[in-house]
Amino acid sequence: MSNPTNQYNLCGAVELLLTAQIYNQSERLAENDLPAKIRKHYWDSGTKSVKRPINVRTEDVTAIYGINNVDFEITELPFIEFEKFGSELRLTVFDLAKGWFLKQDGAIEQIRMNPVLASFYEEDGADVSYEDARRTVRPKERDREYLDSLVAEIAASDKDVDLLTLVHLIAPEDVRQRMNELVLTSEQEKKIEKIMQAIKHREYLREIGLCEIGKMLFIGLPGTGKTSAARALSEKLSIPLVEVRLSMITSQYLGETSKNIDKVFELAKKLNPCILFIDEFDFIAKTRMSDENAALKRAVNTLLKAIDEISLIDDGVLLIGATNHPNLLDRAAWRRFDEIVDFPPPDTRMRKDILDLVLSKVKGEFNTQEIAEITDGFTGSDLRMVVREAVLHSLVLDRTYITQSELVSAATDFSNRVGLMMKEYSLA
Ligand SMILES: Nc1ncnc2c1ncn2[C@@H]1O[C@H](COP(=O)(O)OP(=O)(O)OP(=O)(O)O)[C@@H](O)[C@H]1O
Ligand SMILES: [Mg+2]
Repeated sequence: MSNPTNQYNLCGAVELLLTAQIYNQSERLAENDLPAKIRKHYWDSGTKSVKRPINVRTEDVTAIYGINNVDFEITELPFIEFEKFGSELRLTVFDLAKGWFLKQDGAIEQIRMNPVLASFYEEDGADVSYEDARRTVRPKERDREYLDSLVAEIAASDKDVDLLTLVHLIAPEDVRQRMNELVLTSEQEKKIEKIMQAIKHREYLREIGLCEIGKMLFIGLPGTGKTSAARALSEKLSIPLVEVRLSMITSQYLGETSKNIDKVFELAKKLNPCILFIDEFDFIAKTRMSDENAALKRAVNTLLKAIDEISLIDDGVLLIGATNHPNLLDRAAWRRFDEIVDFPPPDTRMRKDILDLVLSKVKGEFNTQEIAEITDGFTGSDLRMVVREAVLHSLVLDRTYITQSELVSAATDFSNRVGLMMKEYSLA
C-alpha cells in the first residue's frame, strides 16, 4: 500500500495522464478546459495553443506538480507504462486508471477544478459538473505565456520598430493590485461596474448597434490610484494591459511619432481583448498649446484619430486615458471619452479604509480613525508612505510592531515635508 505522500505524488501523475489522454482524443475540448498549470506548461507559442498530442514525461510531472522521483513511484501502478528511454509515461489500461483515480482522497476536488476530467467523469456518472469546473479555471488570457506568444508573433511580423520599447505589457496573472484592495468612491465603483458589464455583454451591444462605450478618462492628482485601478481592472477582467506613456512615444522617436502611435494602436487591436492604458494624457494639450513643433502637432492629430477609430465593441480594446491635469485638456480631447472617472483625494472615511487596508498585516496598537482625521489632503500613495515610515522607524528600534505615536509622527513629518497639512494639526 502507498503511504500518503506517495499517493499524493501518484495522483498528480495520474491526473496528468488522464487529462492528456482525454484532451488528445476530444477535439471538443480547448485550452481553457485545461487547468492553468497544465496549460501553461504545454503552451506552444508558435501556434498559440496547446498542441495535440500532449505527451507526458516524468519531467512534465515534476515541473507541473513539483514531484520528484516520479519514475520510481510510478512502477507501483499496474496501468502505467514507463518507457525508460523516452522517459515517457503512458496509460496502458485507461479504465483501470480512471477507476483508481476516482477512489483517491481529494480526487473529486481535483476533478471539479479540471474541466477536461470533469467532462469525462460527468458523463461517466460521477457527481461533478463540467460547467462548474469551467468556472474554476482562469482563462488563457491571464497567462504570461499567452501574452508572450502574441507579442513574439507581432514582433516577428514587424521588424522596423521595437514596439516593446514603447509600451509596457502586463499579463493579468502578474498584476499584484486587486480591485478589492483599492478604496473607491461609490461613483468610481459604479462606473467601473458599468464598464465590466459592457465588456461582458459586448456581443449584445454590437447586435443592437451601441458602440459608443469603452473609452474612459481617469482624472486626479498623482497618487490617487489611477494606474492602480487600470491594473486592477486588467486582473479582474483577465485581459492583458498595454501601458503607454505619451511622453515616451513622442519624445523618443520624434520623426517617427505618428507612425509609432499607429503601431501602438495596431498592437492593442492584435492583442484584443486588452486594455490600452494611455498615461499622461495631458501631454496632448501641452503640445497643442505650444506651436513650435509641427511633427508633434501631426502626432497629436494622429492620436486623436486613432482614438476615434478604436472601439471596445468592434476591436475588443478598452481605452483608458489618465491625467493629473484635466484643466489642460481641450474639448477635442474631452469629447473622445464616454466616461470620465474622477479620482479625488480621499475623504476621512476613505483615508481610514486605506489605512486599514495598508495596515492589515501590520501588528501594533494604533487608531486609524485618528490618523485619518489628521491626514486631510493626503492621497492613497501618501498614506502608504506614512505607514512605510512608521514601520521603518519601528524596525530601527528592533520592533516588528508599530505604535500610534509612530504613525502620528510619520504623518506629521510627511505633511511638513510637502506642506500639505495645516499648522494646527502638527504635534506640539
Ligand atoms: N484609493 C486608494 N486605495 C488604495 N490604495 C491606493 C489608493 N490610491 C492610491 N493608492 C496606492 O497608492 C499607490 C500609488 O497609486 P497609483 O500609482 O495608482 O496613483 P496614480 O493616480 O496613477 O498616480 P500618478 O498620477 O502619479 O501616476 C499605489 O500603491 C496604490 O495602491
Ligand atoms: Mg499613474
